[in-house]
Amino acid sequence: MSGRESLVLAIESSCDETGVALVAGGRRILAQAVASQIVLHAPAGGIVPEVAARAHLRWIVPALTDVLDTAGVGISEVDAIAVTAGPGLAGSLLVGIAFAKTLAWAHERPLVGVNHLEGHLYAAWLLDPDEPERPAPPFPLVALVASGGHTFLVEMRDHLAYRLLGETVDDAAGEAFDKAGRLLGLGYPGGPAIATAAADARQRDATLPRAWLGPSYDFSFSGLKTALRRAVESELAAAGRPASDAGGRLDAARVSELAWGVQEAIVDVLATKTLRAADETAARAIVLGGGVASNMALRERIAIGSAARGLPLFVPRPGLCTDNGAMIGAAGWQRFVAGERAGSDLGARPAWPLVRPAGAPDTRRPPRRGAAARAYEAALAAERDAAGRSSTATTRGGIR
Ligand code: KG4
Ligand code: ZN
Repeated sequence: MSGRESLVLAIESSCDETGVALVAGGRRILAQAVASQIVLHAPAGGIVPEVAARAHLRWIVPALTDVLDTAGVGISEVDAIAVTAGPGLAGSLLVGIAFAKTLAWAHERPLVGVNHLEGHLYAAWLLDPDEPERPAPPFPLVALVASGGHTFLVEMRDHLAYRLLGETVDDAAGEAFDKAGRLLGLGYPGGPAIATAAADARQRDATLPRAWLGPSYDFSFSGLKTALRRAVESELAAAGRPASDAGGRLDAARVSELAWGVQEAIVDVLATKTLRAADETAARAIVLGGGVASNMALRERIAIGSAARGLPLFVPRPGLCTDNGAMIGAAGWQRFVAGERAGSDLGARPAWPLVRPAGAPDTRRPPRRGAAARAYEAALAAERDAAGRSSTATTRGGIR
């Protein structure tokens, strides 16, 4: 099989979904399986890292078996194995990486380590098994990735080449949805719950603050959370209810109105900055990715703006916006055909940025004092050495 059509087996386990997929030519999904852990984490109101890692361990083999059976493909027919190497939860990443390494070793297949955020970007290139062919996004383009852990805008002038335009200075957009969901007593994950509640809002005038941060493309969502908490507390106090009952005791109609206000505030900032970035960089297309891109209000708002500009919008169907294996297959294929290979020493990189502002330091921060700090530094230095040795440079672009 030529490199262009090669078949990638992809593994994703960075957070709370176990994803396995077979992707041909970097675009066509042959089969995929996503084992979601939402029901496991919902009682805690957020992801419990050890629970997540144990669930990946439980579901990764059944997910692989399901995918191979559905596609009628054996591992020996696969040209490369791609796996998420970061960013994400260390314990979760390690399950997928150890599994992918073992498969690569046992079946003598090349291994490619993929940045999860690059996966969210390349989800826009994917085609479902029976979807008609359609053109790939043209360059230059502007891409917004908004997930539970990350929110950033990049310009892409070619494959695997990114210029960071802006990123969140505090909470990610998905995190803002999740925190707001908790404040409103809507449960986990907050994004879909807020979207559902917002759809029921009768009165649509709740105004929550937007942080525009001047002309920059950066985002900030922590003020929104504070404003929402104050609104909930003062409305509870006015009704003579204790503030500790935040959200849960506001009546459902008011929760819906506030949910609408939260969604509006987040969508307004994300859409306005993305469209302005497209204008200012003379982009030929807009790409959206990450769990928050499954939000219908955001999709509609950007669709209207891009149509008004005559720009094509590439946004994966909602199931491919949230974490999945296929997106790692799409990005992994790009890295594979660019000549990138990981060694058997591929490690987990929990805080791996897709692209760092020029001169910015690595964001991983060691514990501050004592022997633990020294041990952490030594381990990180060893990991960096290993990472430097294990991946050959790509021929184009690359993660900076
Ligand atoms: O990309 P993703 O599945 O995982 C990460 O890489 O973080 O994103 C998960 C995030 C969660 O914060 C979730 O609340 C948010 O995406 N999300 C949504 C929607 N669906 C998922 N946010 C707003 N509206 C939605 N419909
Ligand atoms: Zn993700």
